[in-house]
Amino acid sequence: MPFYHKLGQIPSKRHTVFRQPDGSIYHEQLFGTIGFDGMSSLLYHIQPPTVVKDVRKSFSVAPEIALEKNMTMRSLMGYNVLPKDDYLESRTPVLVNNDCYIELAAPKKSMTDYFYKNADADEVVFIHQGEGTLKTQLGNIDFKYGDYLVIPRGMIYQLHFKSENNRLFIVQSFHPIYTPKRYRNWFGQLLEHSPYCERDIRPPHELETHNEAGDFLIKIKKQDELYHYVYGHHPFNIVGWDGYNFPYAFSIHEFEPITGRVHQPPPVHQTFETSAFVICSFVPRLYDYHPDSIPAPYNHSNIDSDEVLYYVDGDFMSRNHIEKGQITLHPAGIPHGPHPGAYERSIGQKSTEELAVMVDTFKPLKLTKQALGIEDDSYMKSWNH
Ligand SMILES: [Fe+2]
Repeated sequence: MPFYHKLGQIPSKRHTVFRQPDGSIYHEQLFGTIGFDGMSSLLYHIQPPTVVKDVRKSFSVAPEIALEKNMTMRSLMGYNVLPKDDYLESRTPVLVNNDCYIELAAPKKSMTDYFYKNADADEVVFIHQGEGTLKTQLGNIDFKYGDYLVIPRGMIYQLHFKSENNRLFIVQSFHPIYTPKRYRNWFGQLLEHSPYCERDIRPPHELETHNEAGDFLIKIKKQDELYHYVYGHHPFNIVGWDGYNFPYAFSIHEFEPITGRVHQPPPVHQTFETSAFVICSFVPRLYDYHPDSIPAPYNHSNIDSDEVLYYVDGDFMSRNHIEKGQITLHPAGIPHGPHPGAYERSIGQKSTEELAVMVDTFKPLKLTKQALGIEDDSYMKSWNH
């Protein structure tokens, strides 16, 4: 995050002696991105973060690609992904390319007997259903319906849920995830025309420090292999940290929509950016207020991007027969637009309650085996009336 945050105890000067009550020295770790050029934080561990007791096994978690090349409108019924007890096992990649994996998950159980670290990718976990706490090395963040949890690569974490009824929409990003650059000034502060500001961003608020030795299983994903590492100390053994690289939450309900007299283009919904895709939030808002405006979007040729919509709640004005958790994919190469009747239906409407997350990727997406298993294959012809 482009702002500074700190939790717990840190020495007044970096890289200097910082003693524990027993006289030993805390173990400093730089947790950074993009070599030493990106955002970073300095962490202070009770025990060194390097004590690996065992590497038990590893296995592939690479997505199984069923369709390498796609030029067809697709729809996936996301809620047809069956719930599973385990968080990692429940994560189901559906649309992937070299820049991002788009996944669905319905985990029933909290992570209590292991920790997870994604060494490949930043993660955005959108909470469609569920409530709980994201526990990380840098502290805890409570989450509920509508939250985006942004977890930088390399962060060790657990998800704890309050119930078994959880639905997640996850994007793994192989490029760092940022707030949109055009909404930031040259110091990184979010500007007045940004649809959200720093006050809406929730960094870790509660640092849990565990001074425990033992066997701690950390499942580490790297290059699509999941390694089972056994560390000799509890990974949440940090007494303090400060810096710019930390997980945070942002609620889609805090996104302030940008509206106009006539239809506003999709970039007004942009919430996050990377060098390879964007994430946008479609939220309840007033419709365009020119007396002759057509609130439904015009047809458009997304010639340079595949467009993925994940429907969260409310009626989606441009689509007929949409269900919660449904995904649509409109691939680059062919124009797309509202369903039959959507233009007329939208005229004179004052507002919408639609809630959706959009992911626009600059490179084409591949479909996985699991995606084809939840596909509604009538979607492609649903404009033919
Ligand atoms: Fe579109």
